[in-house]
Amino acid sequence: MPFKFLTLEVADRVATLTINRPDKLNALNDATIAELGHAIDQIRVDDSIGGVLLTGAGRAFVAGADISELSSQTPVLAKARARAGQDVFRRFETCPKPVIAAVNGFALGGGCELAMACHIRIASDAAKFGQPESKLGLLPGFGGSQRLPRLVGKGRAMQLLLTGEMIDAAEAYRIGLVNKVVPATELMNFAKEMMKGILSNAPIAVALSIEAIDRGLGMSLDEGLVLEANHFGLLAATDDMGEGTRAFIEKRAPAFKGK
Ligand code: COA
Repeated sequence: MPFKFLTLEVADRVATLTINRPDKLNALNDATIAELGHAIDQIRVDDSIGGVLLTGAGRAFVAGADISELSSQTPVLAKARARAGQDVFRRFETCPKPVIAAVNGFALGGGCELAMACHIRIASDAAKFGQPESKLGLLPGFGGSQRLPRLVGKGRAMQLLLTGEMIDAAEAYRIGLVNKVVPATELMNFAKEMMKGILSNAPIAVALSIEAIDRGLGMSLDEGLVLEANHFGLLAATDDMGEGTRAFIEKRAPAFKGK
């Protein structure tokens, strides 16, 4: 499916999904959000894709929801817009294939929220993060008030939402908002290498790890432990578990088939 505001390229089983509205710093208008939904649905079912790198064209990752669209929204439309965006971001978060955000520049508002919905965040040293919605009379509508405290803790999330101030990549790393900071020129290569490492592991084990962490966070510890044990049992029925453990014993690299 052709996209107007995105590009999707696939090489060596790694998809690179680029938000491509650089003249507006990749601000998320409703059409771009809808395209992101189509793209992640396509990625989920395309067997030639093992995982996806999400990035932005130009000097921004995403500078937020499109403020020109927000400025005239009614309460009913605002709620519907928030729910639609939340739904799309949740489809990224629950994708059984790994999703890495390669944050190349501004990740503000909806951009920070989109990065947080990805499984792993790698930031360029030029990236800037923030939830500036309170400066606009808003609060985050695409999950930021919920995912940020889960990632960095309540106090730091409060600070970012209430002040609306931007932080640099080093500070984002210090507080646990991003997994790694690399020089801007090395961002895509680093993210690609990390993805290749993940794709060399057993795909069902990767998918069930994503699900265990994602679902488990919403459960009590006891319920989460049952979920983990169920997944552990399920993996014992896969060819890949036999192959992975045998390969270790035979001191060779495993050949996983995703079965
Ligand atoms: N929505 C709509 N348009 C946006 C946008 C957004 N969230 N962020 C940037 N743009 C547009 C600007 O309006 C400008 O368009 P124009 O050239 O047609 O005037 C273009 O992108 C470039 O942005 P500009 O502000 O000129 O760049 P800058 O380098 O001076 O500042 C930012 C960069 C990121 C600090 C600034 O654009 C900004 O504060 N953006 C809004 C961030 C925000 O509040 N996000 C949360 C939204 S809920």
